[in-house]
Amino acid sequence: MFEWFQYFFHRGNATKRILIVSPDRALMTGIQKDIKYLFKGWELHFAADGRHGAHELAHGSWEVIVVDTAIRDMSVRDLLKNSLTKSPNAIRILLTNPGDSGYATVSLMSVAHRFLTKPCNLDALKVTIHQAMEVRLLLCSPQMQQIVSKITVLPQLPQIFVRVMEELDNPNASARTIGALIAQDVSISAKVLNVVNSAYFGVAQRVADPSQAVSLLGMDTVRSIVLLFDVFTKFQHLNDRVPDFKLDALQRHSLAVAAGARAIARKESMDPVTHEHSYLAGLFHDIGKLVLLANFTKEFALAMRICREQQVSASAAEWKVLGVTHAEVGGYLLGLWGFADPVIEACAWHHQPRKGGNAFGFSPLMAVHAADAFHASSEGGREMVGGDKLDLTYMRENYKAPAVPAWQELCQACYQQPTAPGGRS
Ligand SMILES: [Fe+2]
Ligand SMILES: [Fe+2]
Repeated sequence: MFEWFQYFFHRGNATKRILIVSPDRALMTGIQKDIKYLFKGWELHFAADGRHGAHELAHGSWEVIVVDTAIRDMSVRDLLKNSLTKSPNAIRILLTNPGDSGYATVSLMSVAHRFLTKPCNLDALKVTIHQAMEVRLLLCSPQMQQIVSKITVLPQLPQIFVRVMEELDNPNASARTIGALIAQDVSISAKVLNVVNSAYFGVAQRVADPSQAVSLLGMDTVRSIVLLFDVFTKFQHLNDRVPDFKLDALQRHSLAVAAGARAIARKESMDPVTHEHSYLAGLFHDIGKLVLLANFTKEFALAMRICREQQVSASAAEWKVLGVTHAEVGGYLLGLWGFADPVIEACAWHHQPRKGGNAFGFSPLMAVHAADAFHASSEGGREMVGGDKLDLTYMRENYKAPAVPAWQELCQACYQQPTAPGGRS
């Protein structure tokens, strides 16, 4: 179960192999020119098209696989999926091109860990690879391993989610086929429609069936809401175990932070993948609390009490009691579920963004960190104990601090909407 995270840990100082599949001669020339500076200690291989890339993937194992969407002789999805056979633990990075359709790129989220938009600075490629390794190393920390070894209850990916994922792999997938799958689960589809019709999405007409929801909001958003409700439904029996913690409050908070994070991402980035990652990370940023609640109920109850009585943040109290926080545990779970790296990072570091290292421009982590802090200080967010404050110094050092008031306004507009009805059902 833990192989994914332990892989790089155990590779130690062994030479790591990176395969770059791209027809972009300028990019290849740039990398070859700066190879010593960029990738000291790495073994680099290049393939100019999909066929040669597939050959390399079939005949060796790789630590990092970079695929350019500009390859034309085979499907990028097939190439990345093939890589799972020989190199299941590889970091898979997609280089996207300005002409790519947003929908096509978002649909590749399930097979790539990270996305880089071309023309990209070579330093950005290096930073992306290093960040991907950092995530894996952090989640292999001794404290995390200790906690993980005691976890007996982990939310499983629901069957309906897995089937929707499989359907997305089908080239003939449509809003109708995905909607039909969701409609098979009556209670989940009712909750999805409840949320879709709430003010969070600003959909003008009333949405009456899941297919319509999929065509209006996109497959990934609907799929994520399905996952959120399924997980919360399965943990509902634990609702009264901890007096200072309520599942429905967390569910409302998760939907609000997701809406706020996506609003921020839409303002700061043109990239639809960044919008989706921000939304997903917002939805699941506190999922680690469910894992702590289910597996360390007594310790979690103590942490929640400390945070109410001493007015400290939930993560500080959890750290004191358990030596780990819901943020990292959540990041670990999202890793097991196969979420993309920016979503894992945003979850793992949403209370301490500087742990993610220096940012390279706007990131879902910033969006979630800000939306979470804004919601914690808003009227609706006060029902959750232990929210953290915005790290303004981090924002100043890594992005544009002056953007913060505008972000807060955007989020407040989302939070002032009537509470998502799904949260109360
Ligand atoms: Fe949190
Ligand atoms: Fe939160």
